[in-house]
Amino acid sequence: MYRLVFSQVLQRLDAEAVHHFTVSALALLARLPLVKRLLHRVFAPHDPALRVTAFGVHFPGPFGLAAGFDKDAACAEAVAALGFGHVEVGTITAHGQPGNPRPRLFRLVRQHAVINRMGFNNAGAVAAARRLRRTRGVPVVIGVNIGKTKVVPEAEATADYVASARQLAPLADYLVVNVSSPNTPGLRNLQAVALLRPLLTAVKQVADATPRRTPLLVKIAPDLADEDVDAVAELALELGLDGIIATNTTIKHGGETGGLSGRPLKARSLEVLRRLRAKVGDRITLVSAGGVEDVDDVWERILAGATLVQGYTGWIYGGPLWAAHIHRQLLRRVRRHGLKSVTEAIGRTA
Ligand SMILES: Cc1cc2nc3c(=O)[nH]c(=O)nc-3n(C[C@H](O)[C@H](O)[C@H](O)COP(=O)(O)O)c2cc1C
Repeated sequence: MYRLVFSQVLQRLDAEAVHHFTVSALALLARLPLVKRLLHRVFAPHDPALRVTAFGVHFPGPFGLAAGFDKDAACAEAVAALGFGHVEVGTITAHGQPGNPRPRLFRLVRQHAVINRMGFNNAGAVAAARRLRRTRGVPVVIGVNIGKTKVVPEAEATADYVASARQLAPLADYLVVNVSSPNTPGLRNLQAVALLRPLLTAVKQVADATPRRTPLLVKIAPDLADEDVDAVAELALELGLDGIIATNTTIKHGGETGGLSGRPLKARSLEVLRRLRAKVGDRITLVSAGGVEDVDDVWERILAGATLVQGYTGWIYGGPLWAAHIHRQLLRRVRRHGLKSVTEAIGRTA
């Protein structure tokens, strides 16, 4: 049914227009407590066998929505009600900004992929904090992903991230330093350890100072050389970070300028996950994103060492109940393997 709606209607419309319509519809849904609760009861993961705990946070299921969909923290509860085990909002920057000129979002339907060069369009950290403070009507784990404001020079990047962290860390179940989006000039240079160490150290001080000590993760690009993946992993261990999210979109493609996500990213994201697991073992949490389309992908990432798995592009092609469906199948998979919980599967093939 969704495939028909997608090919006959959605695919013919501007991708960003569909995105904004979807977010608005979900934001409206988030304001309807009864509907939201009903959907949550039906579609959210509830079986104890799907529960995972990472960095002290309890997730109802391991599969969540990656950053970039709910950039302004407008509809996280509705997203959770549709079956995602967590929602990573953002990227949020200290100052609001419009992002790059349109068009900036392109579907590659045959490849089940997307290219985007959105450029962190968002209303800024203060506006996001206001939204996050609103009471949550259904339980939802919210990660907050922060990035650098475009006009802020690289030399002042740390202060800019710290400003966002001060606003948002107290409201986040976990905080992510995003240094891997390709659409803010120079951002990915911050992945170099010499720049990353002072940045993460400063943000960690802020995250550590919140009443509940907010877990801190770093999100990396799939285009890092293997040695650089290792270097970030070592740094994460050295600084006592809580986790690494791998990966963001890739710029290694021949299409429109921007980051490529979806099916073509699958192999490299899995490769980076395996490399990270070999380096850090279970000492820090690994979150895998990139090209996840179905339960087989989620299962493969968990076996390879991911405690949490995220998807975004697969949702565009998979339809509204994509995550609910994946969690349901995952539960069957856990039982078929005679496991008590999905947690027992983490890192089994690593
Ligand atoms: C339209 C779009 C916007 C995105 N925006 C962000 C962002 O703001 N911050 C971020 O960390 N990742 C962003 N991402 C990357 C995703 O979070 C994810 O890491 C990547 O798309 C790989 O997962 P996927 O193949 O399941 O989409 C974006 C992805 C897409 C498709």
